[in-house]
Amino acid sequence: MPILSVHLTPALVGPVDLADRLVVVIDILRATTTMLYALAEGASVIIPVAEVDEASDLASRLPDTTVLLAGERKGSPIAGFDLGNSPKEFTASIVADKAIVFTTTNGTRAILHAGLARRVLLGAFVNFSAVCHELLADGGDVSLLCAGTDGAVALEDTLFAGAVVEFLQNRGDYLLDDGARLAWDTFEGHGSVLLSAFEVAAGGKNLAEIGLNEDLSWAAKIDRFGILAEVKGTPPRISICSYSASPTVWRTCGP
Ligand code: MLT
Repeated sequence: MPILSVHLTPALVGPVDLADRLVVVIDILRATTTMLYALAEGASVIIPVAEVDEASDLASRLPDTTVLLAGERKGSPIAGFDLGNSPKEFTASIVADKAIVFTTTNGTRAILHAGLARRVLLGAFVNFSAVCHELLADGGDVSLLCAGTDGAVALEDTLFAGAVVEFLQNRGDYLLDDGARLAWDTFEGHGSVLLSAFEVAAGGKNLAEIGLNEDLSWAAKIDRFGILAEVKGTPPRISICSYSASPTVWRTCGP
């Protein structure tokens, strides 16, 4: 029976322990949500990096016309970058066919933390069903890796993990760890009105304080996209690996 684990923060699992897993990295507010918007709007690839200097350095070595710098620190756009980390900024007219070098406080670091995993997907409510169907099709052990906020558990990430646990449990047999049971209970308790849960979460309050509370509703659009985004290669690159035009037909990416 495949194992289904939820790691409420990256510090709760070592990179080596993810090696045989299909890992879904979750940063609902906002990194994985925003990256999915960017890819859905036509960005060719996202290059996740940990540090601001590293991002600038990498972008300066790529052709000007094909690269954009994006990300946040303390939630706000980074000086000199083209884009912040709000989904609404990533429109087709700006991002189509562009490589986006992306650095965020927790989300991109969680992606890099999963570097040894068998496979790595991005998860957010905006591609909830696509992720769930891929996990079922893959059939192997799963780790849902919540990015959290500055080392603390994030309610919105836990809710997404719990929603995935519920979906998978209703359709197959998985061996749940305690993190998965906690996340599932959290989803049952707080998942019915996502936006309200986001508003009381620390991450949601931080965004409201800097005037970005509109981003919460962008993150709460369940199944806005039928896309899967997979992280591949060393150094890692993120691109769309599968697309479904209909909610009942899912093409899988495969290993
Ligand atoms: C992060 O990666 O830490 C976040 O996505 C933070 C944010 O955008 O506010």
